[in-house]
Amino acid sequence: MDSNGDGIGDLGGIRRKLDYLQWLGVDAIWISPIYPSPMADFGYDISNYTDIDPIFGTVAEFDALLDDVHGRGMKLLLDYVPNHTSDRHPWFIDARASRSSQRRDWYIWRDPDPGGGPPNNWRANFGGSAWAWDKKTGQYYYHAFLREQPDLNWRNPQVQRAMLEVLRFWLDRGVDGFRVDVMHHLVKDTEFRDNPPNPDFRSGMSPYRELLTTYTVDLPEVQEIVAMMRAVIEEYDDRMLVGEIYLPVERLMAYYGASGRGAHLPFNFQLILLPWKAKEIAAAVGRYEALLPSYAWPNWVLGNHDKPRIVSRAGAAQARIAAMLLLTLRGTPTMYYGDEIGMRDVPIAPDQVQDPFEKNVPGLGLGRDPVRTPMQWSDVESAGFTSGTSWLPLADDFKTINVANLMQERSSILNLYHRLIQLRRKEPALSVGDYAAVPVGNDLIVLCENQRIADFWSRSISPDNHAASISASCRRRALSCGSQRTSIVSMSESRTSFSCVPTKA
Ligand code: NOJ
Ligand code: CA
Repeated sequence: MDSNGDGIGDLGGIRRKLDYLQWLGVDAIWISPIYPSPMADFGYDISNYTDIDPIFGTVAEFDALLDDVHGRGMKLLLDYVPNHTSDRHPWFIDARASRSSQRRDWYIWRDPDPGGGPPNNWRANFGGSAWAWDKKTGQYYYHAFLREQPDLNWRNPQVQRAMLEVLRFWLDRGVDGFRVDVMHHLVKDTEFRDNPPNPDFRSGMSPYRELLTTYTVDLPEVQEIVAMMRAVIEEYDDRMLVGEIYLPVERLMAYYGASGRGAHLPFNFQLILLPWKAKEIAAAVGRYEALLPSYAWPNWVLGNHDKPRIVSRAGAAQARIAAMLLLTLRGTPTMYYGDEIGMRDVPIAPDQVQDPFEKNVPGLGLGRDPVRTPMQWSDVESAGFTSGTSWLPLADDFKTINVANLMQERSSILNLYHRLIQLRRKEPALSVGDYAAVPVGNDLIVLCENQRIADFWSRSISPDNHAASISASCRRRALSCGSQRTSIVSMSESRTSFSCVPTKA
């Protein structure tokens, strides 16, 4: 929420909505970057890691927010962006001043290819070459994202020290942990070899995906850096590290670190990335569970600020099923603001585009503005988000799809989320119970819990309760899981409900 009428959400706005987050049942809040930034990539281009951008507030307001959050028994995680700084960061300004600058090696510089042009074929995530020409010093610098986001050279011990100090700065202030931006990107090939072509590339995909990321992403040395970050976290009590990592699950597991000395939670994005098909999701849950090392704690993510929302991917009815899946799977669930009220992606007219990704690579549906529109609090003007003009347009449906309205509606998706979270708190089986799948057909997933689940489902949390028919058809096979209670999730388009059936033999 925006507390000062400039149309942009801020720390004061978050503070005003803590009652709501507490009511919803949120345990920990992750805030996207709030540090000083020229905002070329909406805060992911940081020019000072140890301050707050005036757009969002002050350090004093941050401290007050942290106190309020802790006072309510909740936790607060910050976004830590170690892969790149802003090109306006004093470190980069120094680095580009001359080839002999003290901090020249804090970034990644290369001479042009002998034939002219960039040193190799590496691509930037947001379009074009990953190499930007620096005329003054006659070299290219590497940027995995925008040219305004030069990559730090994490092989340099001074960079390591300076960036680990950033963690300590915020840990000393009392933050409970960090979501680490593109953790898998931190180290690049020392020989700067060309990335090979991606045989699975199809037209319509981001041009970045034309190449594999063999020499730019997920190099073994990244694990050393992750271990350093974890060691800093371990200097403090009860703090945690979440890694933003887009990799196949087989590779993801490495980010838990040797014997669990890596990230506490390498984000598991399968519910965001996979087609919304029961069979595929069930297989993915099974594969993920089977791959988890004994010391690893699972996690599931349903939405974030970079990917289409669940309602737009799967429809409003399936968004309810997704909520149930997210909140009944074993491990830590992460939800994205607005998904709990069923917000959908908002179409953005060309003249309203803010996201540099859409500006650089237009028309492929890669832009992230549609999922970043103002939270819909109520049916008043600007949906109660701002007293001014919001930085992105509001959804057309905000008069009905809003917190105030959906709180009143007993069977709304918002109340479903609220009750699911309550149930999850009450029933340890839902977070720490064993998981076993029961094969029942293409459009159903059955989850078995090894402890008693309260008689929750019988209170009918879904308006169109087809649970009975689903139960009947599954009952026999569900019995085979041998547990006292079974959750059944239907992902078929015609059966939009779910239930929990007693399965005592
Ligand atoms: C991942 C973040 O989630 C995304 O929003 C950002 O643009 C890139 N990393 C670059 O920092
Ligand atoms: Ca504001």
